Amino acid sequence: MAQDQRTPVILEQHGAIAVITISNPPLNTLSHSVRLGLDRVLTQVMTDSEIKGAVLCGEGRAFCAGADVREFDQAPQAPSLPDIIRLIEACPKPVVALIHGVAFGGGLELALGCHYRLAGSKARLALPEVKLGLIPGAGGTQRLPRLVGIDVAIDLVTSGRPVGADEAAALGLVDALIEGDEIEFAVDFVDRGSTQLPVPLSQRASPEAPPTSVFVDKRASVVRRARGQESPLKALESIEFGLSVPFEEGLRNERAVFQALRTSPQSRALRHAFFAERAVAKIPGLEKTHPRDIQHLGIVGGGTMGIGIAVCALKAGFNVVLLERTLAESTQAREGIEASLQEFVERGRMTSSDHTAACQRLVSDTDYGCLSTVELVIEAVFEDMGIKKEVFRRLDKYAPEGTILATNTSYLNTDEIAAVTARPEDVIGLHFFSPAQLMRLLEVVKGEKTAPHVVATCLAFARRLDKVGVLAGVCDGFIGNRILFHYRKQVDYMLEDGAMPWEIDQAMESFGMAMGPFRVMDQAGLDIGWANRQRLAPTRPRRERYVEIADRLCERGWFGRKSGQGWYVYQADGTVLPNPEVEPIIHTESARHGIERRFFSVEEIQNRVMLAMINEAARVLEEGIALRPLDIDMVKVFGYGFPRWRGGPMHFADETGLDEILKALKDYAMTDDVFWKPSSLLEQLVREGRTFSDLN
Ligand code: NAI
Repeated sequence: MAQDQRTPVILEQHGAIAVITISNPPLNTLSHSVRLGLDRVLTQVMTDSEIKGAVLCGEGRAFCAGADVREFDQAPQAPSLPDIIRLIEACPKPVVALIHGVAFGGGLELALGCHYRLAGSKARLALPEVKLGLIPGAGGTQRLPRLVGIDVAIDLVTSGRPVGADEAAALGLVDALIEGDEIEFAVDFVDRGSTQLPVPLSQRASPEAPPTSVFVDKRASVVRRARGQESPLKALESIEFGLSVPFEEGLRNERAVFQALRTSPQSRALRHAFFAERAVAKIPGLEKTHPRDIQHLGIVGGGTMGIGIAVCALKAGFNVVLLERTLAESTQAREGIEASLQEFVERGRMTSSDHTAACQRLVSDTDYGCLSTVELVIEAVFEDMGIKKEVFRRLDKYAPEGTILATNTSYLNTDEIAAVTARPEDVIGLHFFSPAQLMRLLEVVKGEKTAPHVVATCLAFARRLDKVGVLAGVCDGFIGNRILFHYRKQVDYMLEDGAMPWEIDQAMESFGMAMGPFRVMDQAGLDIGWANRQRLAPTRPRRERYVEIADRLCERGWFGRKSGQGWYVYQADGTVLPNPEVEPIIHTESARHGIERRFFSVEEIQNRVMLAMINEAARVLEEGIALRPLDIDMVKVFGYGFPRWRGGPMHFADETGLDEILKALKDYAMTDDVFWKPSSLLEQLVREGRTFSDLN
């Protein structure tokens, strides 16, 4: 048995079979030292006459999670991954990939270079490069079609979706599913098959190219799904190109596209999002604070949000007690939760037995006495300070000592709510987004007196719900809604000055937003914004411009989708059309204020919205409401449909150039110095020649 400690690649002999283990924790990424190690041991396998074949595997929970993303910003160093794969294919002895955990990106490409692939029950295989704005760069788009055919290859490469062991076997992506001891199974597999070496994928003929029309359709569907992101289309094109040229030419083209994308703004943005998503959970000062274990959750209020929160908590395995005002409302909430869980079953995302178990973990009642075992309770009653205070007084009386008391308020001051209890250190905001069972963002709102372990526990709770928990401070609207509230004012101004709602929606959707602002308002209900504007009316600065168009719609009872019309009309057959009655209302309002309506280009609409968003976001930072620019980016990406491939508003601002942003703000401020007053943080950064990224 030979072992080498110098590199993170270990070779052990099991009889005549070499077991090569990548040992680069936690995910066995293909860093430069791993590639060097693979190069060395593969050469040993080729030259050592006592070795008949090899098993390639990974230590710990991953086979190999692909390239080391941090190396993307550096110049490539030899040997490259394609070099390693070439070496495997040239090996006259069988090399078999033992995939027991994730084989992602370069990890799967490495496996595709092997002569056979075996999968354990926990295997997950994917080419997720498009999610980082890239395409596979080590033969993935060339070898995969040769193994599983064009349709499957296009699906996997353009979506980046992972497949489990059974699906991988059904697709022909793996040759066998492992039974029993993994290493023993794989060693035995090599031992038995060593006389028949299959033709490496690179030397097999590519599948026959389908008629051009097939690719025209595929292209259209990829473009539709990618919503402005370029890499999925590039991946498709790389597959298409490879069908009509020799393997080596396809590979060269793929590598060239990969290298070009590596330095593209979209890939930079997606990589920023990749790291930011992981960084939000790391809170300076909380590293040593241990989260408490939570098993029992209480929820007060079983409306839209209470139901959604209950569904995601039950799915994640928590026991839930839900309190409503009356027995009828409590029953209704239970029915809503069960029906929503059932939808997951119907979509194949939950088994029937998990559904039954989840329903059994739910207690719905009206009696606060049921809260005797909860460790965390989330209030989700009406957005009304008086009602919320009353609920918190009762929670203070009934919830066991040490229970975390959370509010799901969207805008209200959590410190004021905490003050009605005798334990403000246990009070926190947990701001979920609608629909809570699907939206990934969770703002964790730390009050003036909230204890550090309460924050740490809530961030850990977010992770258990598979949510992205972002720490926020107390202010009206916290991070996300505060920025939203601000740029919606700008949207209203454009409406009164000349743009139509659907023009603004289209402009922002073509920027990459999941939905334009007016569609979002219709979806959420115009009454919510109306109530909020009325609440804020007494404190609105006297010189601030106020547009009443949305109020005019609300006065007519047009609250958006739920009332059948708002900015748009929602027909019974599902058709959505601009509401023809909105246009005259807008014109009347413009005329009433003596405004001569003018044309807004798509570019101007996008600029104004982005500048408003960035300026308010800078203020949110300056006031310490958000810890870092990356927290704001993740709030907008995970809660507000901001295109991930633009990285978030702060990353976008850096890419645009802060000096340019400031200059544009100052230009606009000449016509409205209240709205466009530049944030002092932005001015300071420009003065010092720094960026938002420097504050991360
Ligand atoms: P909702 O009106 O759908 O539900 C509120 C529920 O609370 C009702 O079922 C009501 O019966 C119940 N309730 C009222 N007083 C109660 C009491 N004293 N005890 C027990 N139950 C009581 O409201 P929704 O939309 O679920 O909102 C709840 C909270 O979540 C609000 O603070 C809202 O601002 C916030 N929120 C709402 C979002 C949304 O998109 N709907 C998004 C994020 C937060």
